[in-house]
Amino acid sequence: MSLMGRSCSYLLLHLAIVVAALVRGGGAATGAAFACGAGSPAAGLPFCQRGQPIRARARDLVDRLTVAEKVALLVNTAAGVPRLGIPGYQWWSEALHGVSNAGPGVRFGGAFPGATSFPQVISSAASFNATLWELMGQVVSDEARAMYNGGQAGLTFWSPNVNIYRDPRWGRGQETPGEDPAVSARYAAAYVRGLQQANGGGNHARLKVAACCKHYTAYDLDNWKGIDRFHFNAKVSKQDLEDTYDVPFKACVVEGKVASVMCSYNQVNGVPSCADPNLLRHTVRGQWRLNGYIVSDCDSVGVFYDAQHYTSTPEDAVAYALKAGLDLDCGQFLAQHTESALKKGKVSEADVDAALTHTVAVQMRLGMFDGEPSQQQFGNLGPQHVCTQANRNLAIEAARQAMVLLKNDAGALPLSPSRLRTVAVVGPNSDATVTMIGNYAGVPCAYTSPLKGIGGYVNPLHQVGCNNVACSGEQPIGAAVEAARRADAAIVVVGLDQSVESEGRDREGLLLPGRQQELVSEVAKACRGPTVLVLMCGGPVDVSFAKDDPNIAAILWAGYPGQAGGTAIAEVIFGAHNPGGKLPVTWYPQEYVEKVKMTNMAMRADPSTGYPGRSYRFYDGPVVYSFGHGLSYTKFTHALADVPAQLSVQLDGLRAEPLFNASEPGRAVPVTHARCDGLSVPVHVDVTNAGDRDGSHTVLVYWRPPAGDGAPSKQLVAFEKVQLAAGEQVRVVLGVDVCRDLTVADGDGIRRIPLGEHSLHVGDLTHTISLQAESLSR
Ligand SMILES: *[C@@H]1O[C@H](CO)[C@@H](O)[C@H](O)[C@H]1NC(C)=O
Ligand SMILES: *[C@@H]1O[C@H](CO)[C@@H](O)[C@H](O)[C@H]1NC(C)=O
Repeated sequence: MSLMGRSCSYLLLHLAIVVAALVRGGGAATGAAFACGAGSPAAGLPFCQRGQPIRARARDLVDRLTVAEKVALLVNTAAGVPRLGIPGYQWWSEALHGVSNAGPGVRFGGAFPGATSFPQVISSAASFNATLWELMGQVVSDEARAMYNGGQAGLTFWSPNVNIYRDPRWGRGQETPGEDPAVSARYAAAYVRGLQQANGGGNHARLKVAACCKHYTAYDLDNWKGIDRFHFNAKVSKQDLEDTYDVPFKACVVEGKVASVMCSYNQVNGVPSCADPNLLRHTVRGQWRLNGYIVSDCDSVGVFYDAQHYTSTPEDAVAYALKAGLDLDCGQFLAQHTESALKKGKVSEADVDAALTHTVAVQMRLGMFDGEPSQQQFGNLGPQHVCTQANRNLAIEAARQAMVLLKNDAGALPLSPSRLRTVAVVGPNSDATVTMIGNYAGVPCAYTSPLKGIGGYVNPLHQVGCNNVACSGEQPIGAAVEAARRADAAIVVVGLDQSVESEGRDREGLLLPGRQQELVSEVAKACRGPTVLVLMCGGPVDVSFAKDDPNIAAILWAGYPGQAGGTAIAEVIFGAHNPGGKLPVTWYPQEYVEKVKMTNMAMRADPSTGYPGRSYRFYDGPVVYSFGHGLSYTKFTHALADVPAQLSVQLDGLRAEPLFNASEPGRAVPVTHARCDGLSVPVHVDVTNAGDRDGSHTVLVYWRPPAGDGAPSKQLVAFEKVQLAAGEQVRVVLGVDVCRDLTVADGDGIRRIPLGEHSLHVGDLTHTISLQAESLSR
């Protein structure tokens, strides 16, 4: 959502309250409070017959509407149709990591003072635990549906954000699952499945809530050195689009079966993504078969008309958007200009009908045309299902799994509380509350700050050291140093917050802001016991100074750990929890951003210009900490138990022969010419916990393809998290899908399976598989 949208969001919020009041309070004014409820003027009409197919019901409703009524339904603040007993609806609700009031559809207060606030997504990604991602989605949608039943939320949530975290400076990187397409894809599918809990098959599957994967596509720049997302043209190669930017969106639609996709503000190769039929109509709806609606980012249509001047008249902007495949406008543009676009013949009523059929069908799958919510599935959910003890416990568990131990010299951690009389707890984030929940948050059930969590184990000596994260000018650093001098250990909680990284705000550098570094170094020098550095931030910071400082015994990345963050931080520091999180992004050094323009979208390195490439897949320069890094208090070892050495890819005999010559060396099979069904490489890995503490460990399977033009140097293809008691061994079986995972996108974005020697890597182990093609005889 936008800052531009933000200013209008207060207006929308106001409208939403008025609509809600009309609907819930003054039922008499609009007829029924719910479409197709008892006493509805439409009760006998086909669109109210819940036993009928969704598509037929949606068409029936759309066919009954006048042009004016239709146009008023094309926007997020959709008007009611009183003569048919249909109340107004606010489409814009958010639930990125808990029900959020970042959109006007959600209102906290009354019976719903707060909702469970899970870690920010970048932190949840660090768990590498798909079970957790799905479970969080289920809890969020329990609370969301409860708030809907109570009249304080919609049912259409514009979450998750699955854009690839391409550049470490991006202010919204915190909202995403990181830089890796495979992790982002798995996250997208798991969280969406959890949120939607679809039941019933095919196109008619009922939804608990409707999720939305955003912002399609290649959106990951907000505002960098005067270049903003409303004007930015992302120049993206077909290769990067296919194997990087589009991957999470495809998984979200195809595997997660999401009910909505949002197009972004930016242009992609000169075309605004919300006006691009190739992206929306052909890819999302055509190839991936979206069963749902495509919504614009807030005011995107207005942005490509007003800010980008992509069309010369507003009516042409309407036509571009609808013909590209847009179904719903977050904003007012389509409500204002569609009637005149119809009159001028820029669009046809059939274009409008097609869009509405998509949105109305989703509302029907949500039960919004089935009368009273209390009579429906999930109708029992109410205030007693929000912020339950079980939900709060899951927030603690998620925060634990988010913790990433970056450094632990000589086993300095965990600290033993019984040996410590006093511990200095310092830093601008040491007593953080709101900072812990990041952006797109709501009102949490309750907070446990780091200071409070640590106070459960030891006697803290608290000094902020810096009054805020900016930490510039006069600051109480001296008092913090003095506290450290008197203590047996120091815990320094520094980092960032939304004043440094957020929507509309990219960073220029990666160092800790202001005098934070000085605070950390001075405290570490003064303290006679160990100093533990806790970094609370979404994006990576260059903490080389601390990595190299022998006075700093340990570094913990706490991310934005959610409402229960302080509990998890303290549990890790004092050994009640053994950390198992891993970095979902590369932590680059400051020099990287001095050399690389944020506007360069290329993932691949370009030796001819000295461009170093991006992410662990293509960048092999120096790093502060690498993707996948994360220490444990125990030690895990791997052995490859059973992995095939050879694999044959069967060609689709009818089509392959004229296009493909299997005996030519260095060739690859286009995926479209391979028999893909069930073609998978089973990877059996024995994992042993060789230490003396229980712990969890994520097995990461990387793949190196045979040489191929622009192939990644390595790519994560499978991962699985396991829990092991001290001394225990388990066998983990991972599947590598040949047609999805062992393919390289060529310059035209065509995926091919290279033939020859592929290698798989788990830890230090390498295994080679030889892939051959085999023609089926006809
Ligand atoms: C296939 O490639 C081999 C090696 O380049 C070549 O000898 C052979 O003639 C090719 N076959 C066809 C049908 O093109
Ligand atoms: C993954 O998360 C779930 C839900 O919190 C948890 O029950 C499970 O133990 C986690 N897996 C591992 C290996 O930690």
